[in-house]
Amino acid sequence: MEESELREAARRLLTANLRQGISPWTGQPYSFAWPSTQTYPFQWFWDSCFHAIVWTHLDMEQAKEELRTLLRAQRPDGHIPHRIAWERTATYPYRFYLHSRSARNPWRSELVQPAVLAIAVEEVHARSGDDAFLAEVLPGVAKFYRWLAEQRDPDGDGLISIIHPYESGIDHKPAYDVVYGLKGGWPTAAVLACRSLDLVNRARNYNLGLIFRVDRFSVEDVLVNCIYAQGLAALARLLRRRGDTDEADAFARRAERVEQAILTKCRAGDGLFYDLYSRQEKMARVKTMTSLFPLILDSIDRPTLERLVRDHLLNPGEFWLPYPVPTVARDEPAFNAGFRSPLASGLWRGPTWVCINWFLVRGLRKHGFTAEAAHIVERTKELVLRGGFREFYNPFTGKPLGARGFSWSTLVLDMLDNQA
Ligand code: GLC
Repeated sequence: MEESELREAARRLLTANLRQGISPWTGQPYSFAWPSTQTYPFQWFWDSCFHAIVWTHLDMEQAKEELRTLLRAQRPDGHIPHRIAWERTATYPYRFYLHSRSARNPWRSELVQPAVLAIAVEEVHARSGDDAFLAEVLPGVAKFYRWLAEQRDPDGDGLISIIHPYESGIDHKPAYDVVYGLKGGWPTAAVLACRSLDLVNRARNYNLGLIFRVDRFSVEDVLVNCIYAQGLAALARLLRRRGDTDEADAFARRAERVEQAILTKCRAGDGLFYDLYSRQEKMARVKTMTSLFPLILDSIDRPTLERLVRDHLLNPGEFWLPYPVPTVARDEPAFNAGFRSPLASGLWRGPTWVCINWFLVRGLRKHGFTAEAAHIVERTKELVLRGGFREFYNPFTGKPLGARGFSWSTLVLDMLDNQA
């Protein structure tokens, strides 16, 4: 693919993956893109947020529709599912059963995904200037972030906890091996541990009080909390625009508190950041791209930031590979640049993913690391031009891997557009 074709190729893919209709369960209209027709024929929370961001460059109405569809699945208490089956489907019914409280009609899951929603809404508003859209969606968005604060912070330190790896979107990240007590970095064991955790959570009927009491998998994930903090800050800015100063102040304060908690509690002596797990808040010390995520925060101090970028991101022995940024540092025993199958290799155990680069590039640009950001954008572009929109790529060779026609890899369009 030539660079000049990128935009039309992105449009073609998102249009091919588009699903529209009326849900047989709820009678509501839906309009969103599947992450990929091959392996992910449903709506996913953070995928949809990324799709909406890309749609702002191609079709603004569709950007809004993708987010509206997500919000239609919101429960009255504010929760928004990590995965939604708007259509009748024969694919993976067991997953819906396992992720739901309902045996009869498990169309939405009880899990969540990284809270990119307010960031996506802010992007749509910034490019469309559509105040009516903002007025329409903001109450639901605020309710979701309130739900997270009220339901997912059992120790009240500001950091939210996930109850399953699928909630970070980084399913088989090797840092979770530590939480399971797995040794040896065998990916299949991590994949199976995820599945058995599904059974345990289902058996507890997704009762959060019970799940946190039992404390089998409760992780204050650095990536999840960095995105949460950035989402809260975006929400605060949007509420301020609408003149809702009190709510805006409250969310801005919460954003600062989450940032401070990440910066003080998750940082280790090597200058990297690690997830905290269990009530004792033990550190899962495996170096993954999650460890770099605090560079997207607003209030990170300069020395901490410099160390994160210069000692680690730009270190060829860890993250600065030919096609950065790998999901796991290359000097970790679990690091695997290649991929055979989800069961044999797991996901997120080495290859480079476009959505991670999208976040890190935003952070680098915000803090003035323009050349480093430009390098990652250039390399990401090369990956896509050579290999197409794939799920992930080998960080040494650039070989495309995983699902084909993978929707959020079109984020490269947003990365290039913001560079201009
Ligand atoms: C995989 C990814 C997750 C993503 C989903 C749909 O499960 O790990 O992050 O949301 O696929 O693309």
